[in-house]
Parts: sequence; structure tokens; C-alpha cells
Amino acid sequence: METKFWQLHSENDEAIFKQAGALLRDGELVAFPTETVYGLGANGLDGRAVRRIYEAKGRPSDNPLILHIADISEIYALTENLNDIALKLAKNFWPGPMTLVVPKSKIIPDEVSAGLPTVAVRFPVNKDAQRLIKAAGVPVAAPSANLSGKPSPTTAQDVMEDMDGKIAAVLDGGKCAVGLESTIIDTTGAVATILRPGQITPEMIAKVLGAVELDGVIKGDETAVPKAPGMKYRHYAPQAPMYLCRNMLVLDRNIQQALAKNLKVGVIATQAYSNCANKVFLSVEDLANKLFYYLRDLDRAGVDVIYAETVSEDGLGLAVMNRMRKAAGNQIL
Ligand code: TXA
Ligand code: MG
Repeated sequence: METKFWQLHSENDEAIFKQAGALLRDGELVAFPTETVYGLGANGLDGRAVRRIYEAKGRPSDNPLILHIADISEIYALTENLNDIALKLAKNFWPGPMTLVVPKSKIIPDEVSAGLPTVAVRFPVNKDAQRLIKAAGVPVAAPSANLSGKPSPTTAQDVMEDMDGKIAAVLDGGKCAVGLESTIIDTTGAVATILRPGQITPEMIAKVLGAVELDGVIKGDETAVPKAPGMKYRHYAPQAPMYLCRNMLVLDRNIQQALAKNLKVGVIATQAYSNCANKVFLSVEDLANKLFYYLRDLDRAGVDVIYAETVSEDGLGLAVMNRMRKAAGNQIL
């Protein structure tokens, strides 16, 4: 299949969104920008269309999808019961990089929820995403638009690298503003539980709800079974082996040893190193924004090994370290 590549933000936008919306209604796949990462969209009420997402990504069928909406009111058709916790979170953080897990209604195809009694819903703030969802006229099921296991795409070119020839179209809306996937919150228990950390931090959620819990896997409990099925898979992995270094001394030593072996070394750190492929970050916000892009770029540079500096696991650092640990297969030096 020839994948159409549509550049947004010109006078052609109206025609593009109209065609893209029609493709989605017809059961085709369309990748689109959101504020977090690029999504791979399908008509969320059409089980057959949703199955194509799993095929294009090579995604395990037990890993459910997020439904994207373009107005808070659209969640009522998707759930049997919107409790106080969900309502408060929606009012405070939507539109934005937050996904709510709620009891699912009867219209949700099994392919979306992968057999769970719940469904994940998100109202993105990105205007291109909102226009596409409105043009489709249906909730849009969308995982990150990468091949399963690879770093999530934060540019339309990243999407093309993984999806060219497999999907109907890619909408290019430029670089994603956040760069990490949404915070996922399970609202079905007595206390809200974060299943995947993101830019909406535990501190921000606690301010609104008074209390919030972290799913065991996020706290580093390796025996815990994650409530978000996707959190159990190796993820975001660059081609080269990656190691996290707890301090600069360890980082320095490992880089020098690898260079002495004539390896091509990629480094993600707050300072640059000579003879390495350097990716310098200035703050945890900066790293959150660029991490996936850096991982893909180091792959393109063909490095043999990647060393990365760790960040402190509070605030946004929790989400960044969660992705870095997965990318590194939890190899910490
Ligand atoms: O920022 C994001 O959330 C991006 C953009 C495109 O919106 N989407 C995204 O989707 O990251 P994906 O499919 O890559 O990750 C969805 C995660 C998976 O870990 C999945 O297991 C979990 O959400 N999930 C989906 N439905 C769930 C449910 N009903 N209960 C628990 N976890 C769920
Ligand atoms: Mg993903």
C-alpha cells in the first residue's frame, strides 16, 4: 500500500482532515500528531479496523488501546459509570496528556479493551489531533505509532520509518510538544492509581484528589503484575545495548572503557564527551521532550552501545526514568 504523507498547517488543512476522517470511517489506519507522541489511529468502534492496528505494529493482542475523544462529553457514551475521581481528573487535566481507565460501555469492541471490563480514554490538547477526531466523527483508537518494542515516534518522519507502506496516511504536524506518552490513571478503585507515569505527575494528581497510588511496577516491584498490560513488555528499545549510569564517575569510566575497545559510543548526558555521539540534555523537562528522539537518532548513527545519565525519580523524573529503565532493559551501572 502507498502511504500518503500529508503536511499540515497550510491552506490545504481542511481538505486533508476531511480525507483523513473519511479514511478512518472506512476502516483505514491514519497516523497523527498528539502533544505526547504520534498515534496510529483507527475507528475505535469498528473491531475490524482496530485489528489492523495490531497487525501493523506487531502488537500482542492482550494489550488494549486508548480511545481518543475531542470533547469531555464524548466519554459518556464509552463508559457505564463516570465516578467522582474520573470526573475531577477530567475537569482538571483535559484536554491534555492524561488517560483515564473507566468501566467500559457496551459499544466498545473487544479488540479495543483486549477482553478487560474497562476502557482507556484520552482527550488530547493537540489541535491537529482534535480536528482529526472531529473529522472522523467517532472515537479514535490509537496506540503510539511505532513498531511494537521500538521507541515511540515524536516526529512524522519517525512514523514513516516504522509504518511506510503499512498504513493509509501520515499527518505531519511537526514535533510533539511533550515527547512522552500520557499519564494513565485507573479510576475504578477507591483511590486513583497511576498505571503509567507521564507529564501529569503524582504530585499534580494528589493536589486535585488528595490521594493517589502508584501501580507496583512503577515503584520498582519486579514481582508485581502491571495493571496496564503494555507495561510488562520490553519497550522503547534502541538497537544498541543501553546502560544507565547512576553517577558521573561510573558514566565516565564506562565511556572510556568502551572507547578503548574502539566501540562507537552514544551518550545521553548533561555534558558532552569527546569522540562520542553526544545527546546533551539541560533539564529533566528537556530530556522528557527528546528522549525517544535521541534513542532513534542514536540508532540512525549506528552506535554500538549507549550510556545514559540517570535523573532523580521525582516529579517528571518518575516518567523519564520509567521509559529509560525500559529502554535499557533495566541495566543500571
Ligand atoms: O500518550 C499516549 O497515551 C499515546 C498517544 C497516541 O495518545 N498513546 C499510547 O498508547 O501511548 P499505547 O497503546 O502505546 O499505550 C497504551 C497503554 C498500554 O500500556 C496499555 O496496556 C494501556 O495503555 N491500557 C489501555 N487500555 C487499558 C485498560 N483498559 N486498562 C489498563 N491499561 C490499559
Ligand atoms: Mg506504545
